[in-house]
Amino acid sequence: MSWIRKIDLTHPSLLRHKALLTDPIAENAVMTSPSRTAAPAASPTGDPWLLTPGPLTTSPTVKQAMLHDYGSRDHDFIGVNRRLRERLLAVVHGVGTHVCVPMQGSGTFVVEAMLGNFVPADGKLLILVNGAYGWRMARICEYYRRAHVVQETPEDVPVDAAALDRALAADTAITHVAVVHCETTSGILNPLEAVAEVAARHGRGLLIDAMSAFGAIALDARRLSFDAVVASSNKCFEGSPGMGFCIARQAALEAAKGNSPSLSLDLHDQWRAMEANGQWRFTPPTHCILAFDRALDEFEAEGGVAGRGARYAENCRILVEGMRALGFQTLLPDALQAPIIVTFHTPGDPRFDFQVFYDRLRERGFVIYPGKLTVADSFRIGCIGRLGGEQMHGALAAVRDTLHEMGVTRCAPASGSSTADGEKP
Ligand SMILES: Cc1ncc(COP(=O)(O)O)c(C=O)c1O
Repeated sequence: MSWIRKIDLTHPSLLRHKALLTDPIAENAVMTSPSRTAAPAASPTGDPWLLTPGPLTTSPTVKQAMLHDYGSRDHDFIGVNRRLRERLLAVVHGVGTHVCVPMQGSGTFVVEAMLGNFVPADGKLLILVNGAYGWRMARICEYYRRAHVVQETPEDVPVDAAALDRALAADTAITHVAVVHCETTSGILNPLEAVAEVAARHGRGLLIDAMSAFGAIALDARRLSFDAVVASSNKCFEGSPGMGFCIARQAALEAAKGNSPSLSLDLHDQWRAMEANGQWRFTPPTHCILAFDRALDEFEAEGGVAGRGARYAENCRILVEGMRALGFQTLLPDALQAPIIVTFHTPGDPRFDFQVFYDRLRERGFVIYPGKLTVADSFRIGCIGRLGGEQMHGALAAVRDTLHEMGVTRCAPASGSSTADGEKP
């Protein structure tokens, strides 16, 4: 199957990328001075660096893996699918106890599939919420008319396992608990182990949205009790956007047969079909799957979860230290910060305008992200994707020069705060 990744590097359309096939992070990065007269910084394929929660900067080799067309019944393609599922299962040490079911669509599709499949029509879900992605799960329950209750903590406070303990003791109708591992709204890391321990002790199923953490923050199915965890191809795995996957305890997935209110998002049906003939039920995202397979090669070469997590942690350290040195304040204390995305308070200086700041950073080759908090004006800068120290230092230099150009001298937040684009109902 090695021909799958064989690329003709003499093809004219690829010559431009030929030099980019070694280390895409450091050696081939086109890093330039952030001065506005100089060329903007650019990735090896000439794109701005994405310091966002996704889609993310991918390596040239991941992009190149997509340069093949496959029929969905192709023998080699079916082999890639099988390998992909096995490798994802191995990331959580779930071989023999759990199964991996890929699903077309963005991350929300697979979150929706998880809730629709695992919470039966007569079940009840307790959702631990401290940001927009927790609220999104509540919205999905409304669409599916699933009984649910929300236990909320503020956006800068982790979800509360002790309060969960009390709630589960008080309400025996609750069948499942849902939690977001890293709440990307703020970048906060939730205490997954403590939540899992409480849910297991009460005999309730745990459903985890690990979209932005999976692959960079350890999650071990041998130690953590859960029914299902979902994530996607394009976050910490650095594949292309377009598909998600669910890793489910096999017995829980078997018990979920017939629960799904949706045909296309029926995880049990998708699993049975894949087990039967190795094929997707409906048109597979072939190019995305090839990219994901290549992205997993690069993930494993980097040292798996430990290696990837270490690079992101270093990116995060450089970013936070550099931004604090410029006078910015992070929303979260370091102890609560996941090395995925960092929320910064908007500077109180009246000359600061986020849209101008964003546009000028984009002109310099760095794309950042607006805030999603309901409690404070903020913006976010991501640490994930095919980025290393050079890009983080480049982004900091671009921030410094942009602030100078805007005449902003005070980066501490104004006292009092207002509302950003939160998802809370
Ligand atoms: C924790 C979490 N859950 C769900 C999603 C939704 O994923 P998507 O935007 O791909 O639908 C995201 C996206 O960033 C996320 O961070």
